[in-house]
Amino acid sequence: GDVAVLVPAAGAGVRLGPGAPKALRPLAGEPLLVHAVRRIAAAPSVHTIVVAAPAADVGAVRQLLAPVAPVAVVAGGAERQASVAAALAAVPAGPEIVLVHDAARALTPPELVESVAEAVRAGHDAVVPVLPVVDTIKEVGAGEVVLGTVDRSALRAVQTPQGFRRSVLAAAHEAAGDPLTDDAGLVEKLGVPVVCVPGSEYALKVTRPFDLALAEHLLAIGA
Ligand code: C5P
Repeated sequence: GDVAVLVPAAGAGVRLGPGAPKALRPLAGEPLLVHAVRRIAAAPSVHTIVVAAPAADVGAVRQLLAPVAPVAVVAGGAERQASVAAALAAVPAGPEIVLVHDAARALTPPELVESVAEAVRAGHDAVVPVLPVVDTIKEVGAGEVVLGTVDRSALRAVQTPQGFRRSVLAAAHEAAGDPLTDDAGLVEKLGVPVVCVPGSEYALKVTRPFDLALAEHLLAIGA
């Protein structure tokens, strides 16, 4: 394998309701993070996995993942971007392709990990998996008054894993200013082209209680 996968898993999961940090919430009896790491480890290109866990849970997460796959676990930060930077700093010499994958996208198929890695290997410095946007999107202002309608055909919903040539991701994090919600956004600021590949419905981000119910159902029918 020539790929390292960074797994930011240090978020609180406020939108999911009260409880444990999101990556540790159970989905069909196992934490989201366990589902996510199992699928990442099943991708043949993957050489190294580094998880960024909540600082208070680093030891527990190490124990949790030991039977799942060989992983390094580091303490995450207050923002997702800081968690990714901490994980990136822990990648050993070797892998020249780095993927960043949210623990919350617990049912992401190994095939998506492979297709993102392959697009980087083929020469793209930065790759994001995307789906078309199905809803009409409106921009709203004060008082929830609609300002305008965005041309949906030019929009994509972006998932993870996002893939990068290692040197490009490192440069993007070194240059980073205000925290962004994804790593490709940092790379865009460097002026490096970011290329889209087809995403997967199974890579949905478990964010709200509805998503957890949907993920349970997908697992029950064989995801
Ligand atoms: O909050 P959101 O759903 O955007 O989080 C995306 C991913 O980033 C989750 O897997 C979450 O655990 C992770 N995260 C993190 N450190 C933070 C905030 C979020 O690793 N401080």
